[in-house]
Amino acid sequence: MNTLKLLILLSACFLVSCAPINNNDQANNLGDNVMHHDAHTYSNVEEIRTDHLHLELEVNFENNTVYGVARHEMGEHNTDTAIFDIKELEIKKVTLGKGKEESTDFVIGNNNELLGQSLKVKIKPDTKYINIYYQTTDKTEALDWLEPELTAGKKHPYMYTQGQAILTRSWIPLQDTPMNRITYSADVKVPSDLIAVMSASNPKKKNNTGEYHFEMKQKIPAYLIALAVGDMTYTPFSDNCGVYSEPELADACAYEFVDLPKMIETAENMYGEYRWDQYDIVMLPYSFPFGGMENPRLTFANPTILAGDRSMVSVIAHELAHSWSGNLVTNATWNDFWLNEGFTVYFENRIMEEIYGKETADILAIIEYQDLEVALEDIENGDHPEDTQLKLQLDHRNPDDGMTDIAYVKGAFFLRTLEHLVGRDKFDAFLTSYFDEHAFETITTEDFVKYLDSHLLEPNNIAFDANEWIYQPGVPDNCIKISSKRLDNMKTVAQALNNGEDVFNNALKDVERGDYITQEWMTFIRSLSNSTSPEQMKKIDEQLKFSSEANPAIKSAWFQLAIQTGYQDIRPEMQAYLNLVGRRWYIEGIYQELRDSKHQGDLVWAKEVFAGAQKNYHFVSKSTIEDVLYSEN
Ligand code: BES
Ligand code: ZN
Repeated sequence: MNTLKLLILLSACFLVSCAPINNNDQANNLGDNVMHHDAHTYSNVEEIRTDHLHLELEVNFENNTVYGVARHEMGEHNTDTAIFDIKELEIKKVTLGKGKEESTDFVIGNNNELLGQSLKVKIKPDTKYINIYYQTTDKTEALDWLEPELTAGKKHPYMYTQGQAILTRSWIPLQDTPMNRITYSADVKVPSDLIAVMSASNPKKKNNTGEYHFEMKQKIPAYLIALAVGDMTYTPFSDNCGVYSEPELADACAYEFVDLPKMIETAENMYGEYRWDQYDIVMLPYSFPFGGMENPRLTFANPTILAGDRSMVSVIAHELAHSWSGNLVTNATWNDFWLNEGFTVYFENRIMEEIYGKETADILAIIEYQDLEVALEDIENGDHPEDTQLKLQLDHRNPDDGMTDIAYVKGAFFLRTLEHLVGRDKFDAFLTSYFDEHAFETITTEDFVKYLDSHLLEPNNIAFDANEWIYQPGVPDNCIKISSKRLDNMKTVAQALNNGEDVFNNALKDVERGDYITQEWMTFIRSLSNSTSPEQMKKIDEQLKFSSEANPAIKSAWFQLAIQTGYQDIRPEMQAYLNLVGRRWYIEGIYQELRDSKHQGDLVWAKEVFAGAQKNYHFVSKSTIEDVLYSEN
């Protein structure tokens, strides 16, 4: 019998003898005496948990592979099995101990397309250190490996990770649930012409060894472990904040994010001290699937926010706000995702109001409400109409399904409605103590509702049906209304155009795109009729240069309308855009319009374009667009 067979046999015996492990239905009792439950992990965190993780990583660009050792320091326990999450990883060996290591048996469970596999490691009651030796594969979903052509400088390759929601397990074997918080450290080796940065303490300068050490001393959930490797320089804004970018983008970043120190100060004045010491941004390539990602100490950002006029800085306000909502107080499971995003959108808007004024903040909130209305309609007509509730039921589903404007915008409007009812002072005091009392903890929706009752509603004698917002579909009637004259004006111009009036010699006479901000143009475009003629579309485009020169946010809205109206002249521009931009929310709508289009050939064209563009997308966007174009409904 060869050793592999022996190992399998031994492991099988060991499994039979150990306590039953029921991964998906385990109830965990963590903090606050509330029964928690995370259906998206195999790990047995209720029995044994990682306290600290030390990573030894080698990032190899020859074969696009990360070679790693994940050294887990476990808390006290009384179990003979530690279960970790893995996905498409090659596990080479597992050892126990520090300094002197001995191999131990492990079993890898069946592969689930969504959750990956369980890695069950045999341990002893006194086991404190578990070391997992592994390497990533070409199916590793968290990692995006970019050829030099896809970077700004076009000379060096680039690699970055995306962990949220459950992709960290595809590049690190760990307990991949937000219910556990860990500190981490890392020793990372990269090619000596590149620099590595992580969601941790970071080097300010490239060295010539290619070896970097990182420490994250605050406890974080696994989805916030992140790494980016490329040719980067650091531009500081102050002692504790700055931006990493390819040298080619340094000036644009310095211009766009000049208000960063002010944002941090504003946020601290509102909801208490920034507890992560440093706040930096790393500007990634265009393939990054999000506008921003709140990796602690180091927000990951997409170059689509470099609008050139600072009109997209609310994305940074958003990621910064996550330093309180999400990173400090974290959703316990992905069903509670609105606690991360709804609070963050609310907080983001408050930062924007403080720095840029109420008019700007209201404009942003209205754009979001426009998005919410579209999302509500889509969800109500889809397979899961119950997804318009804030608290979700995503067990056996992809947690990504919860990333809709319900969590973001309905969540934020819930908090705005509350604020309006109790008054800003009381509401701010409530949020400050909420962040303070739950700092570095995870929280469920149920915990939050209790806290809301006991700390805001009851003391102030306020009757408010929070359950209607949280557990019922749709948006309650008591939702506050926000209006903006500037956006109403854009709607009026669009409607005049829809009514066949000659706006080109009137409201739009001599108007240039720079005369209005991005959100005004988006409202204008969204208010144009989908029966606008291709000739009219062309005329608008000639004057305002939406297809050729506008920023990615405007282009995304314009291309969607172009598809609806059959304005096909701009296909080359649209294709160039779809080849460049990998930010999911900016391309998903375009592919959806092409799929649903009544104009012949649009779907075929979309598939052709996607076939060429998909290598420029991260797995997250690629799989979403595959679903859009190829799934059956
Ligand atoms: N944390 C999210 C991104 C995310 C959510 C990644 C769920 C994976 C799963 C991030 O903070 C975010 O919300 N980004 C938005 C920013 C916008 C709302 C200002 C984005 O990318 O568009
Ligand atoms: Zn967010």
